[in-house]
Amino acid sequence: MPLSFVRNFAAFGWLMLAAAIAPAVMAQERPLTPEQQQKQRAANAECFSCHSAEGLKAPPKEGLDLRKLRGLLQHPETFYQSDHQKLLCTKCHNEGYDEHPHAADARESTSTCTDCHSKKATLIEAQFEKSVHAELADKITCPTCHNPHLMRIADKQSDPARIVAQDNRVCLGCHDSDEQFAKFAPEKKTRPPIDDIHAWLPNTRLHWKAVRCVECHTPEVAAGEMLSHQILAKDKAEKDCLTCHSASSALKTRLYRHLVKEEQQRLGFANSVILATSYVPGATRHPLLDTLVLGAFAAMLLGLLAHGLGRFLTRGRRSKEAQQHDADDGKNGEHHG
Ligand code: HEC
Ligand code: HEC
Ligand code: HEC
Ligand code: HEC
Ligand code: HEC
Ligand code: HEC
Ligand code: HEC
Repeated sequence: MPLSFVRNFAAFGWLMLAAAIAPAVMAQERPLTPEQQQKQRAANAECFSCHSAEGLKAPPKEGLDLRKLRGLLQHPETFYQSDHQKLLCTKCHNEGYDEHPHAADARESTSTCTDCHSKKATLIEAQFEKSVHAELADKITCPTCHNPHLMRIADKQSDPARIVAQDNRVCLGCHDSDEQFAKFAPEKKTRPPIDDIHAWLPNTRLHWKAVRCVECHTPEVAAGEMLSHQILAKDKAEKDCLTCHSASSALKTRLYRHLVKEEQQRLGFANSVILATSYVPGATRHPLLDTLVLGAFAAMLLGLLAHGLGRFLTRGRRSKEAQQHDADDGKNGEHHG
């Protein structure tokens, strides 16, 4: 088959696909018109007139339970950067919130994620049923991990550090706090000490600023597919350094897939060269050897640094010596053999 035919056919396919997807995507992505936005913000401002730091200082009504209100503040700036920035508060908080104090059963009519995202939620729920958290399904629900007023999914962000910070905050919220963990854990289950468990990962806490827990704790997904909500049991978690630190890093279909191409390549390259020196730690799965190898790597780095520092400190002396040497050379040329 002539190649140009294949290429044209592929291009045609993409065009058809793009045409099929475009209306759906555009319907969702379309920004509010200035008039719509003004209307939406004016309506939400009513809620913020009490539920914000500003509002708390000068609430529009007397006799409110201010102590309770203090714990229920929202942040307009953050809300208008979140995934739900285009929504009215009353899209989710349906009935009873126009009365003050609010109707006693107002909370019960709050929309759930599934009400509006039924397709995604069905998929996610099926993954959650296989997750290590499945037993806790009555306690851990979507808003436990996703604050609907704050969240901004990875796909809509461009800075990996911020994505990692947002997503790891979710897991660490429970796994780095005995108090929070106990609220959800089965009776008598104590929190596993996560620093000890991950001690094999060098600079553990630094790694957690650069990669997400879900990178190692969820199954692989095809490029473009939604990240899985199935948290794997610990014996299935990723331990191989080369999964990330190689030219074909798994991070390309995970964390970095949200970034633009150039950024993907830069970071992918950085990850592959970190461990591209002559050893393969982790792949050997031998802790002592790994320690030795990492030790050797650290020693090499230190050596390089010391060498550089040495050269820097003796720079002045060396150039003087060199001049001296040149002069000597000229004088004592006949002594050299
Ligand atoms: C006049 C001040 C005021 C306004 C305006 C106001 N609230 Fe409240 N809200 C409160 C106070 C005080 C509480 C805590 C006491 C209570 O529950 O009534 C509260 C509690 C809440 C709660 C938590 C309690 C619950 O039912 O779970 C939610 C949610 C809430 N408000 C949403 C809203 C929304 C949405 C709006 C806008 C449509 C709004 N509020 C407007 C004062 C206000
Ligand atoms: C996409 C849906 C959605 C939108 C939009 C939304 N909320 Fe909420 N809100 C929720 C849900 C769900 C909860 C309950 C969270 C939970 O159970 O942990 C909640 C809880 C609250 C609470 C109680 C917080 C607490 O700690 O108990 C307040 C106050 C509140 N919302 C105010 C607002 C205000 C003001 C707006 C508009 C600026 C707004 N919400 C927009 C879904 C939404
Ligand atoms: C009242 C309907 C409604 C409810 C309830 C609701 N959402 Fe949304 N959500 C939306 C809409 C509409 C958008 C798209 C907004 C846009 O076009 O920018 C959205 C966007 C999102 C996005 C970004 C998706 C993307 O591809 O841009 C996520 C993630 C999300 N919602 C999660 C949740 C979670 C988690 C909950 C429950 C806590 C929830 N939503 C509850 C209406 C809702
Ligand atoms: C144990 C915590 C946890 C629970 C429970 C949870 N999520 Fe998530 N969810 C995450 C993390 C972490 C991500 C990855 C962050 C991202 O892609 O922005 C994520 C991503 C998402 C995304 C974006 C996926 C993508 O790749 O586009 C959506 C949509 C979503 N969650 C919806 C939900 C809904 C709906 C529920 C409830 C049925 C839910 N989540 C329950 C932690 C959780
Ligand atoms: C709301 C609290 C909470 C959040 C958020 C949470 N976890 Fe957990 N997690 C738990 C509890 C409680 C257990 C113990 C469950 C049990 O023993 O039945 C657990 C167990 C685990 C386990 C142990 C499984 C095993 O094999 O023993 C792993 C791994 C895990 N969580 C990873 C994560 C990751 C990754 C995230 C973030 C996406 C996360 N968790 C978010 C509460 C939480
Ligand atoms: C580089 C991969 C990697 C990253 C990143 C990672 N983990 Fe793990 N995690 C593992 C492996 C592998 C194990 C199993 C360790 C073992 O059994 O020796 C594990 C074990 C666990 C356990 C099981 C504890 C137990 O003994 O029951 C929890 C909980 C956990 N991780 C939570 C987290 C959280 C929270 C984060 C993010 C802050 C995280 N992990 C980041 C690879 C990772
Ligand atoms: C889930 C992916 C992942 C796994 C698995 C992983 N790393 Fe990393 N590692 C990273 C990322 C991302 C960085 C930060 C790279 C950057 O700064 O661009 C990093 C940084 C490093 C660094 C640089 C110093 C530091 O801590 O910041 C070293 C050394 C390193 N990793 C060693 C290892 C070793 C050894 C293993 C296996 C035991 C391992 N990594 C497993 C993703 C991973």
